[in-house]
Amino acid sequence: MAKTEFTLNGKKVSASSKEDTPLLWVIREEFALVGTKFGCGLGLCGACTMSMDGVPIRTCVTPVAAAAGTNIRTIEHLSKDNTLHPLQEKWIEHNVPQCGYCQPGQIMNALALYENNPTADDEAIKSQMHGNICRCGTYPRILKAIKTALAEKSVAK
Ligand code: FES
Repeated sequence: MAKTEFTLNGKKVSASSKEDTPLLWVIREEFALVGTKFGCGLGLCGACTMSMDGVPIRTCVTPVAAAAGTNIRTIEHLSKDNTLHPLQEKWIEHNVPQCGYCQPGQIMNALALYENNPTADDEAIKSQMHGNICRCGTYPRILKAIKTALAEKSVAK
């Protein structure tokens, strides 16, 4: 069976799952990183969001073959040496999670804004986050957390 090689959270890896296996299951089962969640399985809810070359992707509908040669990051990659990523700090500061299930996907989607569009206004944030569903309705707190993280990043420059 063909191996799929890619970078996972900064390390070169080789996946042996069948090429059409959804990346979500490869990451969860072959590499035992279970922070990313399964929601709809149809690319509609965003629970399974990871970063591929800096772009948020729905890994429940992304075959592992599509990851070949790319840089995949999961929620596990954000904190380093027991230091949380600024987005994670703001998530805590604003008490964002309720049940928490969708939040890894929310944060990984917000990461694209943090890295690529730190001057995003409310509308741009809402537009970016639009497809990530939260059954607890934490949207106002997600917006606050992202806004404050972006604002602090701008001040720190
Ligand atoms: Fe992938 Fe819902 S589980 S978008």
